[in-house]
Amino acid sequence: MTWSGNRYQQLFLMGLKRVGILTGGGDCSGLNAVIRAVTRSAIISHGAEVIGIEEGFEGLIFDRNRKLTVAGTKDILPLGGTILGTTNKGDPFAYRHFDKDGRLTIQDYSQKTIENFKRLELDCLFVVGGDGTLQLGYKFFEKGFPVIGIPKTIDNDLVGTDYTFGFQTAVQIACDALDRLQTTGESHHRVMVLEVMGRGTGWIALEAGISGGAHVILIPEISYDLGKVLEKIHLRKEGGSPFSVIVVAEGAKEIGGEAITSEAASTRLQGVAQLGGVGDHIARQLSDRINLEVRCTVLGHTQRGGTPLAFDRILGTRLGTQAVEAAAEGKFGTMVALKSQDIVLVPLESLAGIVRYVPADGQLVRTAELIGICLGR
Ligand code: F6P
Repeated sequence: MTWSGNRYQQLFLMGLKRVGILTGGGDCSGLNAVIRAVTRSAIISHGAEVIGIEEGFEGLIFDRNRKLTVAGTKDILPLGGTILGTTNKGDPFAYRHFDKDGRLTIQDYSQKTIENFKRLELDCLFVVGGDGTLQLGYKFFEKGFPVIGIPKTIDNDLVGTDYTFGFQTAVQIACDALDRLQTTGESHHRVMVLEVMGRGTGWIALEAGISGGAHVILIPEISYDLGKVLEKIHLRKEGGSPFSVIVVAEGAKEIGGEAITSEAASTRLQGVAQLGGVGDHIARQLSDRINLEVRCTVLGHTQRGGTPLAFDRILGTRLGTQAVEAAAEGKFGTMVALKSQDIVLVPLESLAGIVRYVPADGQLVRTAELIGICLGR
């Protein structure tokens, strides 16, 4: 999408009067940059009114929303989280309720959502989310909502876009943690294991591991051979470095094994099992087999909170503004995406729940292996 004075006039005449935005799924750094960019460009460049829907699709089910203004969004660029709130259990087609006795009922609120949406009289609904939220966006697009998707996730696992905002900030947090684990690990002659997020993909582990000088990186896309990990630790010890730093993605699994999940409250509330525990598992496996102390750190939600890096603020701002331009052109049912240097539109339909995995023999994995990092194979 290019820009010119004439085009501006044309878009303006087509007229966006009132747009809405919601953020759904797990939060990440950079969401507020998107909210600010959508608000500012819709108001400043199109004279539109902007409605913030609260807590993802729940805000449409229960009619919770508020007006967003340039003044009201002026300080949110460096803020983590989302000023609109979010949830990863607000599916209007299968809403999970618990009664006062703790019994679960699943309710279809899609009709109520449609009625509330109609009452808002929005020319466009910007749906900011990961695969689950974007799929919901597509379902409502099929029911007539003028939806434009904006991809976010720390996991970087969405097809159609080279990067998602939130990812670089998460990688930096994990890289900083690895820098710290290096020095304490070296001082104590320990093996330090760092468990990072990423769901079924290893993007965070791989980029953090390369940038944080990890000696071993374990990702879900390459099932690990414990023998190879032990060999690496032994080789380092024999070579005069009796310490090692291992970064493991939460979804990593041993050859022939399964990803490890924990019975957290979310299993009941969200209906999905929570990944987690592989770091401790590996730490136990190693301490049974080597003559070095092993410690495990789980980074968890620290990867999702706090100040976004400049990269994520810029990407969020670019996606937000281009989403508004796409709305002005009536390009609904699409998602704005980063492709090489440009923001492009891809059909929401093409995402269809497809996960973007780390290519096991791709250049990034090879880069790690070429500098001697063990990928557990
Ligand atoms: O998808 C983002 C993510 O942070 C994953 O990396 C992680 O597995 C999951 O969300 C954690 O979800 P929750 O916020 O429900 O604990």
